Amino acid sequence: MTSDKSEPPAFDTSVAHQARIYDYLLGGKDNYAADRAAAEATLKVWPEFAFAAQSNRAFLGRLIRYLAGEAGIRQFLDIGTGIPTAGNTHQVAQEIAPESRVVYVDYDPIVLAHARALLTSSEAGATEYIHADLRDTPAILAQAGQLLDFTKPVAVSLIAILHAIPDADDPHAIVGSVMDALPSGSYLAISHPASDVLSREAENDVIEVLNRRVQQQFTLRSREQVARLFAGLDLVEPGVVRVEEWRADPGPGDARKSAIWGAVGRKR
Ligand SMILES: C[S@@+](CC[C@H](N)C(=O)[O-])C[C@H]1O[C@@H](n2cnc3c(N)ncnc32)[C@H](O)[C@@H]1O
Repeated sequence: MTSDKSEPPAFDTSVAHQARIYDYLLGGKDNYAADRAAAEATLKVWPEFAFAAQSNRAFLGRLIRYLAGEAGIRQFLDIGTGIPTAGNTHQVAQEIAPESRVVYVDYDPIVLAHARALLTSSEAGATEYIHADLRDTPAILAQAGQLLDFTKPVAVSLIAILHAIPDADDPHAIVGSVMDALPSGSYLAISHPASDVLSREAENDVIEVLNRRVQQQFTLRSREQVARLFAGLDLVEPGVVRVEEWRADPGPGDARKSAIWGAVGRKR
């Protein structure tokens, strides 16, 4: 079955979806044979694929703890939520600040099917789920504005989603239009698979293997391209680094490399 890779995915188990491949790599059960085959084929050419997914998820936890803790953020817009798993944004934020309000957005029907697990807010806070495509920023902002107060700072997280936005859809303009709607003191967090960590040969193999099997088309981007997504924002230390390096918890490091850039910025 062929699909238009620029269209939001329909529910189709015959073709791999990135939400379900990611679920498989994290040890989840909400994936199908096509997803597992795509993940296993990619692991053959890039053995660190599972480490990268796990490091990305750990980065999400650390950055939400940073935003709810040190940065004092109480409103979150998590776009590209993925299938709910351990440590969803509202759980991490509300552990620190129970009054946190979190809006989730994803366009995959499997995430919508599991959205109930995201609507388990603390009494003091609130959560909402929006089934929408990141490229439709006016719809997302209109719906998110019903729960979030856009006169107060909001943290937007775009964690492992922008590689599914091809250059033709102008990811820089999409990020800009979301951040333009938010006040000074708002935050942007991004993680993005790198085009400049693996060897050119390994990178070509990964893209070839994945894009042949996955509903979405993956675009890798360089550290410089990821840094440009933060135009008009001040990068929080340590800037754009591999996700496992961003404010890593103390303890023995890991020699493996994720090949995913991660960073957090604050709107001036
Ligand atoms: C790899 S998962 C990441 C999940 C979560 N953010 C994390 O890092 O743990 C990427 C998610 O982005 C979603 N996604 C990709 N392109 C999207 C788009 N244009 N609009 C909304 N969601 C999108 C996919 O459906 C998938 O659930």
